[in-house]
Amino acid sequence: MKPEYKKKPIRSYVIRAGRMTEGQKKAFDQWWGQFGLSLFDGQIHPEQVFEREAPLVVEVGFGMGDSLFTMAKAEPDKNFIGIEVHPPGVGRLISLAGAEGLKNLRVYMADAIDVMSDCIPQGTVDRFQLFFPDPWHKKKHHKRRIVQTEFLAKVQGLLKPGGHFHMATDWQGYADVCFEQMLQAPGFINTVDEYCFASRPDYRPITKFEKRGERLGHGVWDIIFAKGA
Ligand SMILES: C[S@@+](CC[C@H](N)C(=O)[O-])C[C@H]1O[C@@H](n2cnc3c(N)ncnc32)[C@H](O)[C@@H]1O
Repeated sequence: MKPEYKKKPIRSYVIRAGRMTEGQKKAFDQWWGQFGLSLFDGQIHPEQVFEREAPLVVEVGFGMGDSLFTMAKAEPDKNFIGIEVHPPGVGRLISLAGAEGLKNLRVYMADAIDVMSDCIPQGTVDRFQLFFPDPWHKKKHHKRRIVQTEFLAKVQGLLKPGGHFHMATDWQGYADVCFEQMLQAPGFINTVDEYCFASRPDYRPITKFEKRGERLGHGVWDIIFAKGA
């Protein structure tokens, strides 16, 4: 990783030591120029980046990228921006996207908090996705959880009016806390009955972490709120 862009006392991730495969390394040489976006370029204009106007989907923490790749391929009428700090996952996603010739996907390898603050313009996102964020289940680590009041305020600012924030988790305690935070967060309305979790919409494939959770007997909770007036 490059030197940290902005120092932070608390981060929602640790960079895992996982080694990159030769294929993932090659993917950076071959595809980063086409798919990669840099924090250091500052605020983007999505219609210039994608050379077209289309609904914008942003996903934070795509892991190994399989589900984001599947979504971008299945919805060619939308533009997708993925943000992830884990280099092997970024390498894998751009390798899949390059092999498929996807035109509607771009990727940041950076802390999502920085990208959200400095790169994505306000009021431009139709759907903001956060699937299976690290639950940081020990109480002393709860401060590392990405879903915090400030994060939700940033999401709210980035969404278009009526745009959706969609998160899913297989950690019930985290689901309950996030749901409560969503009810409290100004400017959001539940897309289903006020006190209900959502069903998994068809557009969300089952992710790698979700499959692992299923094997461990975990449930899954989807939370989908719209940006209100
Ligand atoms: C538990 S994994 C889930 C991965 C994937 N969404 C899935 O369901 O398979 C959470 C991912 O979020 C990433 N992550 C956590 N905080 C992040 C941040 N602030 N910016 C970018 N990525 C982050 C981690 O690197 C990790 O890959």
